[in-house]
Amino acid sequence: MDNRIISSESREEDLFEKSIRPEYLDEYVGQTEIKENLRVFIKAAMMRDEPLDHVLLYGPPGLGKTTLAHIIANELGATLRTASGPSIEKSGDLAAILSNLEPGDVLFIDEIHRMPSFIEEILYPAMEDFEIDLVVGGEGKSKSIKINLPPFTLVGATTRAGDLSSPLRDRFGIVSKLEYYTYDELSNIVKRSGKVFDIKVNDDAAMELAKRSRKTPRVANRLFRRVRDFALVEGTGIIDLDITTKALKRLHVDDSGLDSLDREYLSSLIEKFNGGPVGVETIATSIGEEVTTIEDVVEPYLLQEGFIKRTNRGRVATEKAYKSLGISYNIGFFKED
Ligand SMILES: Nc1ncnc2c1ncn2[C@@H]1O[C@H](COP(=O)(O)OP(=O)(O)OP(=O)(O)O)[C@@H](O)[C@H]1O
Ligand SMILES: [Mg+2]
Repeated sequence: MDNRIISSESREEDLFEKSIRPEYLDEYVGQTEIKENLRVFIKAAMMRDEPLDHVLLYGPPGLGKTTLAHIIANELGATLRTASGPSIEKSGDLAAILSNLEPGDVLFIDEIHRMPSFIEEILYPAMEDFEIDLVVGGEGKSKSIKINLPPFTLVGATTRAGDLSSPLRDRFGIVSKLEYYTYDELSNIVKRSGKVFDIKVNDDAAMELAKRSRKTPRVANRLFRRVRDFALVEGTGIIDLDITTKALKRLHVDDSGLDSLDREYLSSLIEKFNGGPVGVETIATSIGEEVTTIEDVVEPYLLQEGFIKRTNRGRVATEKAYKSLGISYNIGFFKED
């Protein structure tokens, strides 16, 4: 997914990220319900001088889970320790992370669904009672010792809440699903980025970027960065509608808000499989993508926007999908499941 606008972060993006990532709830645009609830829970925890209950954040990539994990730590005035599911391979890895925590720390485990289940089990007593059971000694002589942990808050993030075992999911007291953003919110995010980087962004330009960003802040900020380059080199130094439209054209971002992988997916579904129903594995193979990328990145947006439907016989393209590709939709009644 190299040339994808939503793929994982590049180095340039890492640097950009550091300057742009909102640090406190007040700067975090949108997700109002999550934000307002967190505000209450954080305040209550601080008033009681207790750790915040464990938080699970889930939703498609680029909607602000990592950002929110940082914000939670900042709002609590706590230190954030980070780890990621796939990098915790042995039970000792997790035991080491946990036993190094300081009182009140926020432990952020990204991609928590990718942690092996035998490791997950170590988390249960850690989350519930702030203790872990360590098995020491070799064959035959091994015994289990309990280690007390300081009170801490676990923040888990995942694009796939469904892949989490229910005992793990149930141990999170606060479970928040991040939603796609509205155009107004995305436009505010773009304007905020303009302020941070000291470049003027006209309202109509910000709205145009918002509409082409797959309702995702990461995409909006990526487009912002590219348009900023065009504005500097080929424009007037400000981000106006004119340079924005030109830049988006040069970047092949079309005005449906879909990106190249979305379009590839839809055209495969429609042209190779007659609009479905077809299984996700088959579509993935036909366009040479990983099934997980299709399921975690592509489909949530296409479903949410009504370009596809999920039926028990597979994925089906809707009339909206045909229209977006400029293909006539005249076989509609065969399409229903
Ligand atoms: N609510 C928001 N307000 C302002 N900027 C945001 C908001 N949410 C996300 N961003 C910006 O969007 C980008 C992506 O956010 P983030 O890395 O937190 O997403 P994520 O959900 O962790 O994605 P992934 O699932 O890929 O890890 C960052 O540039 C971040 O600064
Ligand atoms: Mg993240």
